[in-house]
Amino acid sequence: MTPPQLTEAEALELLAQHYGLTGQLFTLPGERDRNFQLCLASGEKNTFKVVNAEVSLESLKTEIRAMQHLNSILGGLVPNPLADQAGRFISQGSLQNGSTCWLRLQSWQPGTPLAEFRPHTTELFHSVGHLMGRVATSLSTLAVPDPNPELPWHPDQASQIVEEGLSLLTDPLLKNVLEQALRLYDRYGRPLETDLPRSLIQNDANDYNVLVHGKLEGPPELSLIDFGDMVVSWTCAEAAVTLAYTLLGQIAPWKALQATLSGFSQARPLSLLEAEFVWPMALMRLGVSIVMAAKQIQEQPENEYLLISQQPIRELLQRLKDLSLEEGIARSRFACGHSPIHRKVSLETILEKQFFFPVMGQALTPDNTLLLPLGIESPSSDWLSGDVEEQSARIQQAIESAQKIFALGLYDEIRLCYTAPEFQQDLESRTVHLGLDVFGLAGTPIFAPLDGTFVTVHDNAQEQDYGPTLMLQHEDLSGENFFTLYGHLDPECLALWQPGDFVQAGTRIARIGASPRNGNWPPHLHLQVIGHRMGWETDFPGVALPSEQSFWKQLSPNPYRLLGIQEQSWVEPEGLPQDLLARRLHIMGRNLSLSYKKPLTILRGEGVYLIDSLGRRFVDCVNNVAHVGHCHPRVVEAQRKQSSLLNTNTRYLHPELVRYAERLCGLFPDPLNVCFLVCTGSEANELALRLAQAHTQAQGMVVVDVGYHGHTKSLIDLSPYKHNGPGGKGAPDWVRTTPMPDAYRGVYREHHPDPGLAYGGKVIEHAESLAKSGTRLAGFICESILSCGGQIVLPENYLQTAYAGVRRLGGLCIADEVQVGFGRVGKTFWGFELQGVVPDIVTLGKPIGNGHPLAAVITTAEIAEAFANGMEYFNTFGGNPVSAAVGNAVLDVIEEENLQKHALTLGNYLLERWKGMSKRCPALGQVRGEGFFLGMEFVADPVQKTPCAARATYVVERMKAQGFLLSTDGPDHNVLKFKPPLIFPESEAERLCNNLEQILQEVPLQLA
Ligand SMILES: Cc1ncc(COP(=O)(O)O)c(C=O)c1O
Repeated sequence: MTPPQLTEAEALELLAQHYGLTGQLFTLPGERDRNFQLCLASGEKNTFKVVNAEVSLESLKTEIRAMQHLNSILGGLVPNPLADQAGRFISQGSLQNGSTCWLRLQSWQPGTPLAEFRPHTTELFHSVGHLMGRVATSLSTLAVPDPNPELPWHPDQASQIVEEGLSLLTDPLLKNVLEQALRLYDRYGRPLETDLPRSLIQNDANDYNVLVHGKLEGPPELSLIDFGDMVVSWTCAEAAVTLAYTLLGQIAPWKALQATLSGFSQARPLSLLEAEFVWPMALMRLGVSIVMAAKQIQEQPENEYLLISQQPIRELLQRLKDLSLEEGIARSRFACGHSPIHRKVSLETILEKQFFFPVMGQALTPDNTLLLPLGIESPSSDWLSGDVEEQSARIQQAIESAQKIFALGLYDEIRLCYTAPEFQQDLESRTVHLGLDVFGLAGTPIFAPLDGTFVTVHDNAQEQDYGPTLMLQHEDLSGENFFTLYGHLDPECLALWQPGDFVQAGTRIARIGASPRNGNWPPHLHLQVIGHRMGWETDFPGVALPSEQSFWKQLSPNPYRLLGIQEQSWVEPEGLPQDLLARRLHIMGRNLSLSYKKPLTILRGEGVYLIDSLGRRFVDCVNNVAHVGHCHPRVVEAQRKQSSLLNTNTRYLHPELVRYAERLCGLFPDPLNVCFLVCTGSEANELALRLAQAHTQAQGMVVVDVGYHGHTKSLIDLSPYKHNGPGGKGAPDWVRTTPMPDAYRGVYREHHPDPGLAYGGKVIEHAESLAKSGTRLAGFICESILSCGGQIVLPENYLQTAYAGVRRLGGLCIADEVQVGFGRVGKTFWGFELQGVVPDIVTLGKPIGNGHPLAAVITTAEIAEAFANGMEYFNTFGGNPVSAAVGNAVLDVIEEENLQKHALTLGNYLLERWKGMSKRCPALGQVRGEGFFLGMEFVADPVQKTPCAARATYVVERMKAQGFLLSTDGPDHNVLKFKPPLIFPESEAERLCNNLEQILQEVPLQLA
């Protein structure tokens, strides 16, 4: 059936005649109806549908009834039918070509079609599933005859249509997948047909009929259009149709399946039978779509709408061909809240009750077996670093020195070694170990635990795969089947056995293989129990994504009993303590903040990466403390070495300390020649304040708005970011606040002839006003690039002007380099050098010790002298030999790895790329910074420059989902900051830019 033929002018006439309406019409796509968007003069929008007269009036009436019914239950989530002048919801119209048609008007649903909306998150699919579950529930209460019994899209006919249409397909790959899908339907779907509940279903939640109204915060709002394909069929077919379309375009189809079906079943619980039916039915729906398109394209090559959804369907089916189709059934069962496999007696019970011959020939006990935890935090996980020979030697040595025979790697453990790139998948890593690993000498014999038949004898020869692998099928006590898998074997077993061979319990079936032939691992057996192979043949996952941990654990429970182990608790990994968040909130101060909507539990750092408790590897883009990279081996070793020798204080002479002080001062221009070592940035600024006040014998300070200098009482007084923020009590009378020299959004902007001079003048004005009020000036403190202020680069001339004025009035100039020092800004080693000034006091912190609590104050001999007034300056930890050793190691790495130059080159590259992005994304108002101290300012309006924190936060959260840790700053929290470890690699810069580029195009970020 084709849409009626009519012009827009004719449609306008019909509208005037039947509805008394005039407005502007825009053509919309439609397969059966001629659809228009009608824009009324009032601004209101409607959808006007001209329907082929062949469509039965009864079916149209059911459509109207269903929409009214859904509207009354679900509110505005579906269009509301509107009546004509005579009060009818369906009118009959005459077309100029002499034919008749049906006319309908309904309210317009705003939003972007799911197909065009980005991002496609699992939360979004969950919402789509949930919406369709609600629709199915609501429609099931409407008792009507089938409005479209002959519809080719009818689920009842789907398998037949696919079967008949296969011959039309020319692409052999596509044909092959559909043939497999048909077999799956015949085996698992068809037998259920007669037992499933039936009701009216919408039957067309395709990705152009689900509209998404994306928001910067919270879940997106959804609505559903098009009720022209409603039928009475299996209620669960609604879930299948929905699923068929949410899978389109997905790199991770199983995640989309889990999200869609869990959402659907939350609103409309699916029974076990329904859950099993959904997957084969979804495949049939995709098949119908392919077959129908093939037919229709033959008939109407000009109808573009027919083609719209074809390419993604083809791509999806091709992707599915690499997956086991049977797995979809287990996945669907699980997503709907059922066990993924069907068993009368659970595998756990079997493992507990049955007797097994111990797989290693003897039971593993604490007497003969060393536990080898390989979790993210386990020190022994480092044994799996370096080349495989070293790894093997380390493990064997540990076994021997503990006088054991075996070492045991644990089940359900999230392992560090699987955070490597080859285990990464769908933004996670397959880090959860699903078996037990028995490490021992290559050649150690392995025995069948139970009578069984080989189903797999195969060499999974890829690097880091299982190597030679055996799989046995067993019959358990209750007469049901299960499987055991043996990986990393000696290749001898491949010749020894063939699929179909039977072995008795206690038969030697293989030996532990040696590297590299065993998949290139240290010699060990990977032992796993498998409840259902789900169509996997020569292989089965031995590690799983953390997000799928419970699914896989139900398929592969802990196989400890096969090794003769009695106590499960002996071999359980420590795991992460539960309720960490609640316990922290209870035991620690409430005003400690946590980053991100879902806080992260970070357990390890390696260079630019932070690894969390699930083994996700995040790229750290904000930690300027880990200046030379997290846990830099050189720094760690310096600290370890000095800690093992001595740690005291400055009351003894120590060469490391003096060497460090000399080296540090050597990095500053004259006359900055004296150094005090302290432990934190706050201590450094506190001391700087005392120095300035001692030298000038005055109290007054000028500070920059939104500045932060530390957490002590007097530094809160110097930090408008705190004292003018929540809980703050404002500045005391000895402090004056000068505006941030922000040339983007401040008082003096780019068009000002010399914003640096103008903002510098403001500093002088405030210093003078302080003096007028009777408080003499001690100094002016300013960061060399404003950090809390929002990564604001000081305009040229700013510090020169301000310093000259401050000094004229007798004050000292303090540069706070706690954030930006040590080569970060690229062009120069210190940030103040960018401004061509020499401060009187410089404070250092954060990066100086790469995470070790070290900080410093550098000043002139004259100022230090004025401070030495007889009162001893003692700092228990400041200047201890361990800190000095760490400080020296950090300087070594900065020099030897040429990090300042790297920050300059890669920082400039990033800035250029981001400038390009800001041209394409108007919400990205400005990008700025120096070296590796960069910022992106987000706005709601690029002309007014209205700050938009929600957009910056949106990008931070989306980038986190892609594995990049960023955060926001600035008085309006709308500036995304980038200040990573200086070893930030080019490859990650590239990945960061590619991800940002995509995220900046996402629908919620776009300006209206
Ligand atoms: C510019 C600046 N100065 C001083 C400090 C205080 O340093 P700390 O937290 O080590 O006391 C900070 C801390 O964030 C800072 O950003």
